[in-house]
Amino acid sequence: MTGLPKQFELGINEIDAQHVEFIKMLRELKARMGSSPRQEEICVYLERLNNYAKAHFKTEKEYMDRFKYPDIAGHLTEHAHLLQAIEQLEGKYTAENSSVAVYALIDFMETWLLEHIPMYDKKFAEYLRENVIE
Ligand SMILES: [Fe+2]
Ligand SMILES: [Fe+2]
Repeated sequence: MTGLPKQFELGINEIDAQHVEFIKMLRELKARMGSSPRQEEICVYLERLNNYAKAHFKTEKEYMDRFKYPDIAGHLTEHAHLLQAIEQLEGKYTAENSSVAVYALIDFMETWLLEHIPMYDKKFAEYLRENVIE
C-alpha cells in the first residue's frame, strides 16, 4: 500500500515510493509558496525537484532496460519533455523572480504526473507483470 489512488499504483515498490515522494515534494513547495518564501529557498526546492525527477527517470530507465521494455523510446521521450519544461520554468523563475513561474511549474508537473503515471508508467508495469517471472 502506497496511499496512492488505485490508478496510480504500479505494484513496483521502488517506483511507487518515488511517485509518492514526488507528489509530496510538489505539495510541500505549493504550501511553502503561500508564505512568501525567499528566492534562495525556492531555488533549493526547484533544484531538489529537478534532481528528483532525473533520479526517478533513471530508475525507470534501468527497469525498462533490464526487462527489455519494447516502448522504451516513447516513454523516455515523455520523460525528456518534463525535464525540458522544468529547465525552462526554472530558468524563467531565476530570470524574473516571479512566483507565477513557480506556480506554472507546479501545475505543469502535477498535470504531467497525473497523466503520465496511469498511462505510461502503468503500461510498463503491466508489461513487467505479463512478461517477467522473477
Ligand atoms: Fe514515473
Ligand atoms: Fe515514466
